[in-house]
Amino acid sequence: MRSSRRGNVDPFIVMDVMEAARAREAAGHRVIHMEVGQPGSAAPEPARTALAEALSHDPMGYTVALGIPALRARIAQLYGEWYNVDLDPARVVVTSGSSGGFVLAFSALFDAGDRVALGRPGYPSYRQILKAMDLQPVEVETTLENRYQPVPGDLEGVDYEGLLIASPGNPTGTMLDKPALSALHDAASARGAAFLSDEIYHGIEYDKPAVTALEISDDVVVINSFSKYFSMTGWRVGWLVVPDELVRQVERLAQNMFICAPHVSQLAALAAIDAREETEANLAVYSRNRDLMWEGLRTAGFDRIAPPDGAFYFYADVSHITQDSVSFAREILEEAGVAVTPGLDFDPVRGGGTLRFSYARGTDDIEEGLARLHAFMKRRGLAQG
Ligand SMILES: Cc1ncc(COP(=O)(O)O)c(C=O)c1O
Repeated sequence: MRSSRRGNVDPFIVMDVMEAARAREAAGHRVIHMEVGQPGSAAPEPARTALAEALSHDPMGYTVALGIPALRARIAQLYGEWYNVDLDPARVVVTSGSSGGFVLAFSALFDAGDRVALGRPGYPSYRQILKAMDLQPVEVETTLENRYQPVPGDLEGVDYEGLLIASPGNPTGTMLDKPALSALHDAASARGAAFLSDEIYHGIEYDKPAVTALEISDDVVVINSFSKYFSMTGWRVGWLVVPDELVRQVERLAQNMFICAPHVSQLAALAAIDAREETEANLAVYSRNRDLMWEGLRTAGFDRIAPPDGAFYFYADVSHITQDSVSFAREILEEAGVAVTPGLDFDPVRGGGTLRFSYARGTDDIEEGLARLHAFMKRRGLAQG
């Protein structure tokens, strides 16, 4: 069968790590998972209860394309609660995870060949989805000094029709504050480019609240999801906030591409928003884990890190130790029994010298993982103390 050039996207290296970790576990070894970018916790209990109740009487047919009105209204209300932003529910579009949101947003905003600027390192699927849609990712190299977030200077001389930022970002967990976000928005607006803000890790922030792009302008596309803070990765439900004038275009695309996001997941998501006690308890675990990781990674010798403000990742520069992060991650898995992600997924250029550590799991696992990493690095004479 023939196959398309645009469909020839790169695999996710983290999947290979997950498979190697699985094989090790199948061989009877205990593996500490610092590779997986998802919460270890289930969807909040009220979400599961609401769904069980609805299943007994609701046939779960299609919903309207933009999402169940009560969910759109509740998401809009969340913007008042989290950011003091007054948001019209008519601008909220419920999607199949933020991944479905990207496909809708890119289709609504861009034509084939358009260029979309992104910071590197960044979430790998941005690049791959863009390529698969005949759009051109334009990667902008960021620096450890700028905490791996783009600044307007990085965009000078770059030609683009869209700018996609992520705060907190994956793999770094670093955030853009209001002036930094504003400056990037100004740079994009000055050339008539669309501004897209991936806010999927909002809610998982530690010392200061994350800023939504909607605090800066209504002329933005915000992408968010129930996957992370609400601990609902496999439920495939997320949302977009789009400018008024784009709603109808997104609706027409959603009708044709997806019909609707999963009905069951929309009902569960609606209940999850009010499960604050549980989602905040999860956050408290991440927060404790982050403190342990900040200390533990540095004493183990992984000390070239931008302190993360949110999400559940640390991104370490290990280029003084290796230029082959894939082999290094394999050695860590085989010798220390800790699965970590090589940076190449996030940065095809410099990722041979970086690793991502996730701390989304329970604190016991994090403590044991750090002890193992420390012993591993000590054997190599790289640990401090
Ligand atoms: C930055 C970022 N954006 C988007 C996604 C996709 O998430 P989902 O489709 O589950 O909402 C992820 C998943 O890890 C991510 O890290």
